Amino acid sequence: MNKLAELIEAMSRYESGVPSRVGHFLKVYGYAKTIGELEGLPSDIQAVLEAAAIVHDIGIKPSVEKYGSSAGKHQEQEGPPAARDLLEQLGFEAALIERVCFLVGHHHTYAGVDGLDYQILLEADFLVNMLEEAMTVPAIQSAYDNVFKSETGRRLCRHQYLPAPINASPQ
Ligand SMILES: [Fe+2]
Repeated sequence: MNKLAELIEAMSRYESGVPSRVGHFLKVYGYAKTIGELEGLPSDIQAVLEAAAIVHDIGIKPSVEKYGSSAGKHQEQEGPPAARDLLEQLGFEAALIERVCFLVGHHHTYAGVDGLDYQILLEADFLVNMLEEAMTVPAIQSAYDNVFKSETGRRLCRHQYLPAPINASPQ
């Protein structure tokens, strides 16, 4: 059985009653998987990226419960232990768990990106948040200029959010 499918169901149960967060991570997972495949990631890094995309926001729930806030710094603190519990229960490999926990703990940190899994997770999360948070075009342009590095992520961002101006036509 595909362990990522099991992880998706486990996260869906973890986020019980909050379908918006399930929808969010599924969209981030879809973008991350697509970008990783089109960028030709090695299979072990692709597996880390996909698992990280599924659990990247796992820290929101404990942050809200403990602090009444889902601020990024709380999420980055609360997320890794929650991710570790879930991944260990499902029997993921130790090396994957370590890297996924690192990524969960840094997915609001845009400096010090040390790998394509990290880079693509940031891009996939932005591609979803641009729509979900109704980011303005200047904010999207700024993210595009400052965060997006992969050619695939940049194409997806341009096509969806930064289309070339269309000449006014009589129609
Ligand atoms: Fe997210």
